[in-house]
Amino acid sequence: MSVSINFDHVVKRYKEVTVIPDLSLQVKEGEFFTLLGPSGCGKTTLLRMVAGFNSIEGGTISFDSQVINDIAPAKRNIGMVFQNYAVFPHMSVRKNVEFGLKNRKIPKDEIKKRVDEILETVRIAEYAERLPERLSGGQQQRVALARAIVIKPNLLLMDEPLSNLDAKLRIEMRNAIKQIQNEVGITTIYVTHDQEEAMAVSDRIAVMNLGVIQHVSTPKSIYQRPNNLFVANFIGHSNTLKAKADISGRKLVFENGYALQYDGFADDAADGEVKVSVRPEEFIIRKEDEPGVPATVKSSIFLGLMTTYFVELFSGETVEITDVSSISSIIPNGTKVSLDFESEKINIFMPDGTRSLTKGVQNDAYA
Ligand SMILES: Nc1ncnc2c1ncn2[C@@H]1O[C@H](COP(=O)(O)OP(=O)(O)O)[C@@H](O)[C@H]1O
Ligand SMILES: [Mg+2]
Repeated sequence: MSVSINFDHVVKRYKEVTVIPDLSLQVKEGEFFTLLGPSGCGKTTLLRMVAGFNSIEGGTISFDSQVINDIAPAKRNIGMVFQNYAVFPHMSVRKNVEFGLKNRKIPKDEIKKRVDEILETVRIAEYAERLPERLSGGQQQRVALARAIVIKPNLLLMDEPLSNLDAKLRIEMRNAIKQIQNEVGITTIYVTHDQEEAMAVSDRIAVMNLGVIQHVSTPKSIYQRPNNLFVANFIGHSNTLKAKADISGRKLVFENGYALQYDGFADDAADGEVKVSVRPEEFIIRKEDEPGVPATVKSSIFLGLMTTYFVELFSGETVEITDVSSISSIIPNGTKVSLDFESEKINIFMPDGTRSLTKGVQNDAYA
């Protein structure tokens, strides 16, 4: 059956280099859980510790209540899918999927039944007798997925399984993986550096940087109320502006003196300088003589549904703004405008970016 996973003060060192200093995390039974972070932050390292291919230098990893630190990889009953599909080229699809069951003393007719079932689940039944070389990358990855789940593992681990596929196939396959995981209901830890992919497939996401978890929550909550400025900038695109918090006056005062009515201060926010993180869709472009932060449109890109504007603030920084394209016109380069903000959507942070000062942040990292 599916397991829950508990990481308790886990440490990873490669010789004298500490890659994961102190990581605690809970993954729920049946959950689609994603480790998301930039290249080199320790995602693969952590996944290999769960699989048993990496030693653990401190703390414990448990499946349900059983500590698995010293359990051999083969005894952990884990299914795995990697970036390079690792299907056997000389074996048919069926033989590839059967392979995992061969050493498990399962009767022949039971093997056939289970393989047929799984091939249906991942929708490659019609290619059962083909060799992998005659399949597309996406189909080969379905074979790898089938081989991983046919053993009825307690846990499925996937390490950047889509990164060798082209953009269109990646979207198709991430939907397929999400759907298959849903049908099978198996606890899954998925690794990616692609924030959009993480948002599309996950029940919850852990954002990592330098071996440290920055934020654990649902995709929606991480996007809308990031725990710190790193998360705000890593998930989607954000522009950062300086302002002063006026808690009792319920205002954010920008450098030009524009005071934005603001009701989103967290309980522990204090008067003084803050960083304001504004996503491209959270600006409101107003006429030059209306209240706001003065700015000049420098260039624009028409993207169909949306138009992106690159706009220079009076202070010299450039921000990116997206606006739903209007039929009438695109704002010409050189136009002076006044920038306002969707105050319920923007986020504010400590000046060093380490902590959100916006109310409503949900973070399971220390729960
Ligand atoms: N076998 C190893 N020996 C020494 N250092 C390693 C080894 N594997 C990974 N590292 C280092 O550990 C850090 C995390 O790597 P990795 O887990 O592969 O990151 P990610 O999967 O997030 O890209 C990197 O700095 C990497 O260079
Ligand atoms: Mg990796």
